[in-house]
Amino acid sequence: MTIRDISNPSSPLLRDLQRQAPGTYQHSLTIATLIEAVGMELGMDTNLLRAGAYYHDIGKMRHPERFVENQGGGKNIHDSMSPMLSSMEIISHVKDGLELAYEAKLPRRIRDFIAEHHGDTSTRYFYNKAVSLGEKVEWSQFCYPGPKPQSRETALLMITDSVEAAVRAANIRELEDSGGQAVSKIEKIVSQVIQSKINENQFEDAAFTMKDFTVIRKTLVSVLQSMYHTRHVKKIERRK
Ligand SMILES: [Fe+2]
Ligand SMILES: [Fe+2]
Repeated sequence: MTIRDISNPSSPLLRDLQRQAPGTYQHSLTIATLIEAVGMELGMDTNLLRAGAYYHDIGKMRHPERFVENQGGGKNIHDSMSPMLSSMEIISHVKDGLELAYEAKLPRRIRDFIAEHHGDTSTRYFYNKAVSLGEKVEWSQFCYPGPKPQSRETALLMITDSVEAAVRAANIRELEDSGGQAVSKIEKIVSQVIQSKINENQFEDAAFTMKDFTVIRKTLVSVLQSMYHTRHVKKIERRK
């Protein structure tokens, strides 16, 4: 299968993702839009980036209910679960994704996006929760297995993925309602996410220059801003 064949959102595996984990499917489409815009600015292979975005979280379709984007704002199953178990369940979407990708014979370059998009970062929220409950835990028990991103492409997916999740986790209604002020909020989130991945040494094997980081930051802010602006305008129109 070529990258071009699979960089089409109606491929069979993506249709399964859409049916079984609609929130994750939507998240992947948003990321594809964001990463394509940045890739274009940096002169990267946008077909590859888009395909990587579509497939990076396919592992979530084995247990969609474990992931917040598929919970429809309802009950979060992790609220009543041990933090260690929650973390293990979340982290396993990488391994599950690699298995599904292997079965579907997805090219190696796409499997790299699945394997590397969380690098060896941690599920910090659950680690902190375990510590606050007085559990005896090790930091390493809450970390993804890695590897860190080995290419600029997978590193860019890591940034885009985390930015999208962070913007979504921020008070979306507030972002939509604040119209013009949403820009500075989005700018702050994007800068914080990039800095946190730098602090976690995730880009050691993927050479980005300072200039690249500036382009990534500016492009993500501008595309996210236009997404939220569109929703803001639609909301106002609905109220009329
Ligand atoms: Fe993921
Ligand atoms: Fe993701």
